[in-house]
Amino acid sequence: MRNKLQMAFALAGLFFVAPVQAGDDIEGLARTCYGCHGTNGVSVGQSMPSIAGLSADYLKTVMMEWKSGARASANMTRLISGYSDAEIAGLASYFSKLPWTPQVQKTSKETLAKGKAASDRCESCHGVTGGEPDGDDIPRLNGQWAKYLELELMKYRDEAFQMSHKKMIKNARKLDEGEVNSVAEYFGAQSK
Ligand code: HEC
Ligand code: HEC
Repeated sequence: MRNKLQMAFALAGLFFVAPVQAGDDIEGLARTCYGCHGTNGVSVGQSMPSIAGLSADYLKTVMMEWKSGARASANMTRLISGYSDAEIAGLASYFSKLPWTPQVQKTSKETLAKGKAASDRCESCHGVTGGEPDGDDIPRLNGQWAKYLELELMKYRDEAFQMSHKKMIKNARKLDEGEVNSVAEYFGAQSK
């Protein structure tokens, strides 16, 4: 990844008088995300996801799919389409190296129990608490903002909303609306 990036910037450098430092450049781009995603990618807004510490593979897939139109987003499509593929790969790599910082949210015992029961079918891929994804294409859910998780689950369930991942679509559609809410709050309440 690093080599590819360096090569891309080295090639781009041929057209610049002053050589561009790949690392500095990506760090500057990453700072433009902090206004929404929080300093260093740790969000403080309930419907805004933390992006620090998600895998590079997942982050890159999501951004490239927004760029290609394979995945819809009211907020991110226009912003991301302004970045080159190398910048997207650089941003994905940058945020993946920052620590995952769960925002542990409180919920009622009743909701936790309901969410835990509904999370049975999620375990094989996301881990029992959402903190042990079984693959680089799977995002962490533990301590992600519950409101955001709920909104995303509603998108996977909505046939009119353009999402791409067939298995996740299938799993989200097996929940009823009450379960969508309780499972989101269950994962939001997990510290690890
Ligand atoms: C104007 C606010 C705003 C800015 C600036 C912004 N984002 Fe986002 N981003 C959002 C919102 C809102 C979402 C929630 C999903 C959606 O709306 O599609 C999101 C979602 C994401 C996700 C998906 C996270 C997940 O768990 O699936 C990634 C990755 C992402 N943004 C990366 C970035 C990067 C990298 C930057 C900076 C280059 C950036 N965003 C700048 C608003 C913003
Ligand atoms: C077969 C494996 C698999 C199972 C089972 C599964 N997921 Fe997922 N999940 C994924 C993958 C892969 C992604 C990323 C999909 C994408 O790129 O859109 C994902 C994404 C998500 C997201 C989006 C998170 C974000 O940061 O945007 C949520 C929320 C989620 N899953 C919740 C659940 C819940 C709740 C269940 C159980 C009802 C579940 N998943 C079951 C594999 C799975």
